[in-house]
Amino acid sequence: MRLTYNLSRFPSDTESTYMPYLKPERPEKVTAPSLKASKERGERLVCLTAYDYPTARIVDEAGIDIILVGDSLGNVVLGYGNTVPVTLDDILIHVKAVRRGVERALLVADMPYGSFHTGADDTVRAALRLIKEGEAEAIKLEGGQKRVKLVKRLVNEEIAVMGHIGLTPQSINQLGAYRVQGKTADAARRLLDDAYALEEAGAFSIVLELVPREIAELITNSISIPTIGIGAGVHCDIQVLVFHDLLGLAFGKLPRFVREYANLRETITDAITHWAEDVRNGSYPTEQESYGLPAAAAEELKIEIKKVNK
Ligand code: KIV
Repeated sequence: MRLTYNLSRFPSDTESTYMPYLKPERPEKVTAPSLKASKERGERLVCLTAYDYPTARIVDEAGIDIILVGDSLGNVVLGYGNTVPVTLDDILIHVKAVRRGVERALLVADMPYGSFHTGADDTVRAALRLIKEGEAEAIKLEGGQKRVKLVKRLVNEEIAVMGHIGLTPQSINQLGAYRVQGKTADAARRLLDDAYALEEAGAFSIVLELVPREIAELITNSISIPTIGIGAGVHCDIQVLVFHDLLGLAFGKLPRFVREYANLRETITDAITHWAEDVRNGSYPTEQESYGLPAAAAEELKIEIKKVNK
């Protein structure tokens, strides 16, 4: 069953008459501003990636608060070795599919590598495609202080921006490897400055990827917007994971912060090998799984009606 909201039909009457209509029948739609209020109330929220319609429906109906069409799409869906090759058009196709499956969660689209590196106007144009064509409600952008001007410009154009600091996978060619960031006092101070700068620029939340838990806690307690942790310990306001990692659908060695809650690779392999066996031994499809010719037509065509075994 889809979630339904009763937010739009207010009788044009007194406040006391229409107040009951302001109460949603289901958990409230998550918005960029509502995340800050959740942080103030000390609520622990959850964010998960999704890349297609069925996954988006499952994730949204499970009550996940934020759905991110991340450029991790490149690794887990498109089969690239990293996120660098992912294009704006790739993200857009997947955001559109995800949009059709999401009602309650806040839908965030990642700005892929190259979409915000050639100037502020190009960045706004790329972000607007994700918002207008993809119907995302916010965009995510990797980088700290060096992105402040861009973040201000996007916010000025009414685009909600999620920051992303710590490990920024789009920098892999400069970094050389995916490593924990902010491990020295200087690097940790830079991360804190990045977080302050993004908050000041108007970002509504910040992803902290692969940073020591103590630094994530310090940042979380130092800014008023929510932190979204991945490999950043328990003190972040929100936790995010990649859908395929959580469900055992990823290939290769997983980072230590991933907890696999299912092994869908095994479940899927079992199902398809079982089906292939049934096809090979003739037990699929059965009579109930196919359609019979009415006896009169069979008689006229002189076709002998054979019973399918099983
Ligand atoms: O691309 C992505 O999925 C991400 C999250 C892991 C934060 O950036």
